[in-house]
Amino acid sequence: MPVRKGVDAVERLLIEGGRRLEGEIRVQGAKNSALPCLAAAVVTGQTSVLTRCPCLRDTEAAMQILRHIGCETVRAGERVIVRSASPTRWDVPQSLMRRMRSSIIFLGALLSRFGRAELSAPGGCEIGLRPIDLHLSALSALGVQIETDCGKLICRAPNGLHGASITLSFPSVGATENILLCAVGADGKTVIRNAAREPEILDLAAFLNGCGAAIEGAGSDTITVTPTDGFRSYEHAVMPDRIAAATFMAAAAVTGGSVRLLDTAPEYLTPVLPFFEQTGCAVQISGADVLLRAPQRLQSARTVRTMPYPGFPTDFQASAMAMAAAAQGTSIFVETIFENRFKHVPELRRMGAKITVQNNVAVVEGVPRLCGASVQATDLRGGSALVTAALAAQGETSVCCIGHIDRGMEQFEHNLAKLGARIKRIDTDAE
Ligand code: EPZ
Repeated sequence: MPVRKGVDAVERLLIEGGRRLEGEIRVQGAKNSALPCLAAAVVTGQTSVLTRCPCLRDTEAAMQILRHIGCETVRAGERVIVRSASPTRWDVPQSLMRRMRSSIIFLGALLSRFGRAELSAPGGCEIGLRPIDLHLSALSALGVQIETDCGKLICRAPNGLHGASITLSFPSVGATENILLCAVGADGKTVIRNAAREPEILDLAAFLNGCGAAIEGAGSDTITVTPTDGFRSYEHAVMPDRIAAATFMAAAAVTGGSVRLLDTAPEYLTPVLPFFEQTGCAVQISGADVLLRAPQRLQSARTVRTMPYPGFPTDFQASAMAMAAAAQGTSIFVETIFENRFKHVPELRRMGAKITVQNNVAVVEGVPRLCGASVQATDLRGGSALVTAALAAQGETSVCCIGHIDRGMEQFEHNLAKLGARIKRIDTDAE
């Protein structure tokens, strides 16, 4: 599988809209589960094998961090092997930290392994301020002393890591992951209250437990970590990507088409199913497969309010909005997780969408037909939403800055083409 070029590369997607999508695809492994699992491989000092590990710009960045630390890291298709017996470094340089937000997950993992870590501020999608205060206060409760020096975080646990009782003021996904990664290396029991309940937390805990950790309660709001007797080598299948699954459902829905998603995890799609049903789609679950059939014209949805799991996922807000933009009637979106997650709105407007935004509320008045335009992906999910809208639009759409999409959607255009979309990747340099 080819690794895509960087965010700044001059590639774009050209989409000829108006074709009904139909067919079946196998959904990729979850980016947001693979990333913390790759970081967790540092903790164990053993050989970790991740299967269904998506080949994305973000997972490749995580593998580069692992190599920098001194872990032997190899990919063969969807299988990634990490040997972490003898890492040599506990720092992550700025060039690697800037490549993705979730590089901050290495903080908990490095502390767990070495009792020390040096990182700079993380990069990633610009969808909000994205502070890390909850991560840092939780880590200091586990015995970590934190200093900052010219934007660098210098963390040490001079007296070792110890278990703690931690109550998060917000169920942050990343903070919960960092606490888990750090707490599995601590002496004594850790209890996390108001923990994030996202399925990716459950998947990380399943991987760590397979490696020998003792984590209970993942998936609920109270998680307990008790010290382990030792780690072992382990092979783990990354969970299917629930956001990629919903994105392909939206892509088919907006064209009045149908898609069967194979080998997915339908139970984790529960938060988005009412939305699809309100828009007039029929969703049928059969074992691990999901079949979506859309009406010719979508209907508007009731108010969509993004919330931590099991609420409506912020990561699907943009693609849901692309559906609403082409639906009959008015839909309202309230974004409660990130303060800057409507960056796709001006781009959707270029395609003829009627959307007004006030603070964190977007009112979307569906139009009979979106029209092709030249638009720019500003972040991963916003970029996927533009492609979704383009599939429904009359004429040709050009989406630039698609490096953002390559962060998290594996073989996006290839899978859409398989469903019948007319879509191609153009290297502007080569034109
Ligand atoms: C994870 O980000 C995901 N990333 C995001 O997916 C996802 O949008 C988000 O969870 C919410 O579901 C990964 O898993 C790699 P948070 P994370 O900490 O961990 C505030 C995608 O497109 N906050 O739950 O960064 C924060 O600013 C990405 O795949 C603090 O104030 O999310 C935000 O408003 C983008 N202080 C809210 O909490 C902190 O210390 C939720 O953040 C931490 C977070």
